[in-house]
Amino acid sequence: MQTTSRRKFLGICLGGLAAAGTAATAYPLLSYLAPRSIDETGGKVTFPETEIPPDGAKIFDYRGTTGVVIRKQSGELVALSAICTHLGCIVQWENEKQNFLCPCHAGRFTPDGAVISGPPPKPLAKLPITVANGVVTVG
Ligand code: FES
Repeated sequence: MQTTSRRKFLGICLGGLAAAGTAATAYPLLSYLAPRSIDETGGKVTFPETEIPPDGAKIFDYRGTTGVVIRKQSGELVALSAICTHLGCIVQWENEKQNFLCPCHAGRFTPDGAVISGPPPKPLAKLPITVANGVVTVG
């Protein structure tokens, strides 16, 4: 009688350990595979316009990737994906040349994202941008 209850107890303990092990393995895997949720702002990014230097660029995280806003010499703001369309490196704004350089294979883009030279097959993706009351919203 006592042997039976000891077996039951060990069975329950092993079953609990197996369930805990399965949960510990499955949770991170399922979290990784689940689609990213968009934050409460619908994936929009906001920041003060003053963070964009004159004739310069501001790089920011955008929906799990990288975006950039530049202030052209005319004062116009342009928002683009900073991901190079060749192999996905992050482009850098070259203020003195007023264009983007991809450091990986020397692809160059205009301030509007059009390809100037190098291997990129397409322009940088444009992002929607609005400015209201000194606050820039991208997305
Ligand atoms: S990844 Fe940008 S030019 Fe190749």
